[in-house]
Parts: sequence; structure tokens; C-alpha cells
Amino acid sequence: MKLRKVLAIAMASMMVFGLTACGGNDAAPAEAPAEEAPAEEEAAPAEEEAPAEEAAPAEEAAAEDADAAADAAGAGGNIGVCIYKFDDAFMTTYRNALQEILEGKGYTVTFMDGKNDQAEQNNQINNFIAQKVDALIINPVMTSAADQIIATVKDAGVPTVLINREPTADQMSAYDKLVYVGCDARQSGTMQGELILDTPNKGDINGDGKVSYIMIQGDPENVDAQYRTEFSVKALTDAGIEVEELDLQRGDWDRNKGQEIAQNDLAKFGEDIEVIFCNNDDMAIGALQAIQAAGRKVNEDIYLVGVDALDAALNEVAAGNMTGTVLNDAQGQAEGAVQAMEDLLGGKTYAAGEQSIYVDYVKVTPDNVADFQ
Ligand code: BGC
Repeated sequence: MKLRKVLAIAMASMMVFGLTACGGNDAAPAEAPAEEAPAEEEAAPAEEEAPAEEAAPAEEAAAEDADAAADAAGAGGNIGVCIYKFDDAFMTTYRNALQEILEGKGYTVTFMDGKNDQAEQNNQINNFIAQKVDALIINPVMTSAADQIIATVKDAGVPTVLINREPTADQMSAYDKLVYVGCDARQSGTMQGELILDTPNKGDINGDGKVSYIMIQGDPENVDAQYRTEFSVKALTDAGIEVEELDLQRGDWDRNKGQEIAQNDLAKFGEDIEVIFCNNDDMAIGALQAIQAAGRKVNEDIYLVGVDALDAALNEVAAGNMTGTVLNDAQGQAEGAVQAMEDLLGGKTYAAGEQSIYVDYVKVTPDNVADFQ
């Protein structure tokens, strides 16, 4: 995606940028996902020897923070960034944007790969605290671990921006130097549904009076997966369309899993599948491979939508191989996260219920895809 265009979109998003109460995420399930945890303890980062207990008590830390904040806000500071796993297409774009912005502003940044393992990420957070970073930006591995993460950073008094995986407003209210920057996932789900409603037959390709779909879900522990799944279908039913769910399976945001699920479902349900909803583009690209291998043609005998506006997906939308996608504005969110971090470093605190900052999603269709390429 060309940076200038993205920046323009980011600027537009920033204009509607505002502090909004995080009202919608109270339904996040506590249930832990069955991840394949590669959790060898020795995989902890090299700076392990710095003991976490050394973290100063809250008041001392607060005084130190004030100094650190003054330094950090001016001539750069040390920022620790924890990403849930580097091997995620969208988070790679996001990470690159964060790096460019932070380094461009003169900060020293260290990125850690959580490898999709919360225990590993906890170690990384503790190490950053022991190294006395000025601020943390954290993309949690599991939102169900948010209480623990928040207690840890609060105890150390480190200003923290959470990104991409939104905890509940209640969880965040425990610490006033904590803010979440992301998107309202309900909006992306609704836009996916609208992409289908905008097709000539509103998704009912075979004219049987209902839209039969399969849903390829991200990691269901993640509120983005929950809301996109719910609100994409809700957009159809709210418009009075009858729907039939042929299958719903978790693809964990992963291209290969998207491909496998679509391949199996295409073999099982064949022509009955009219729409494939994917919670993200990487899984949609996988699904597209299966669609093409099955001799089906997107926008003629099947519809396919994703979320993110990855470069690869934009190319497929332009080529007519995806019905559409939804821009998940990595650049805008990275800008917002850095802004929020600087506000925290400048001493800003956030009241309970006002700790979520949302950047808008944008619908992408063949008509406007060129604006994003
Ligand atoms: C993105 C996915 C990504 C996930 C990671 C979502 O917002 O759409 O592509 O895998 O975040 O948490």
C-alpha cells in the first residue's frame, strides 16, 4: 500500500479520532483458546537475568517515571514493544509502521516476538520493566491475560498503550496510565455484510431466497474475531435477508488454515456456498486458493470478503478475485498509538470508560481499491 495514500486515510481517521467509552467489549469470553503453545521457558529473551522483583514500588516508580517521562517526551526515550507474534501478516504491517514512526521521532525501540505464547510475552514485559523502558506498547497474546498484564505495568508505573487486542473497559479501568488504541471490530463486520448487500443479488446467487455462507473465523479468543463473525451476518439479517450458516470454523487468522477450511467446505457443500466470510485477508487469500482450485469464480458463482486491506488482498480485489475487503488502518492505528504514548509520557491520564481510542475502518471495493494501492 502506498504510504502517502495511507497517510491521507490516516489523517482522515485522525479527524474523527476521539476518546470513546469502550462499551462494546464486555462480552469477551474468559475461555482460553487451545493454542499450540511452544512454551519452552528457555525461549525467554536474553535480558532474563534482570529480576522482575527489582521493579520499584508504585510511588517510587511514579517519581522516577516523571523524570523518565520528561526525558522521553523530549529527545527520544526507550520504548518496548511486545507483538503477539511476528508471523502475522497484518501485525507485520503494523509493526513496520510503528517502527518507522517511533524511530522517525528519535525513540529507541525494541520489538519482542511473543510467538503466540502468553508466558513468553509476560517474561518480555517483565524484562522491559527491569530495563526501565519509558513506555510500553503491547499487543497482548491473549486478552484473557489482560488483568495480569495491566497489574504488572501498573505495579511498575510504566505508561502503557495496548493495541490490536482489546480488553474490556472494566479491565482497563484498573490503571489510569493505560490506553487502548485500535478499531471497533463491530464496524468491520458490518462493512463485510454491506459488501455482500452491495452485490447485484445481495449474496443470493442461486436465487433460493437465502444467503448460504461459511464463516472462517480468526482466533475466537480475540474480540475482532467475535464481532466480525457476529456483525457481518447481522448486517444481512438487519436488511431482512434470510441466512444459512453452512459452517463456522476457526482459522486463527492464518492463511493455510483458511485454505484448508475452504477446501474442505467446498468439497462438502459445493455450489451451496454462496458467500465465504473471512475474519481477515490472510485467511481470505487462503480461501481464494481453494476457490480457484475448485474451479469456482469469485463474483460470478461465489462471493469472498476479508478484512485488513493487505497489499495481496487489494490486488485480488482489483483483479475481481475478492468481492471486497475492509481497511484495517495499520498506519492510522500506529500513529494513534504513538500519539497516545506521547500523551501518557506528557503526564496525561485516562479516566475509566474513556480508555479506548478507535480508528475507523474503510470499505474497499473494485470502485475505490486504487485509492489504497
Ligand atoms: C487483523 C488480523 C490479525 C489480528 C491479530 C486483526 O485485527 O484483522 O489480520 O491477525 O488482528 O490480532
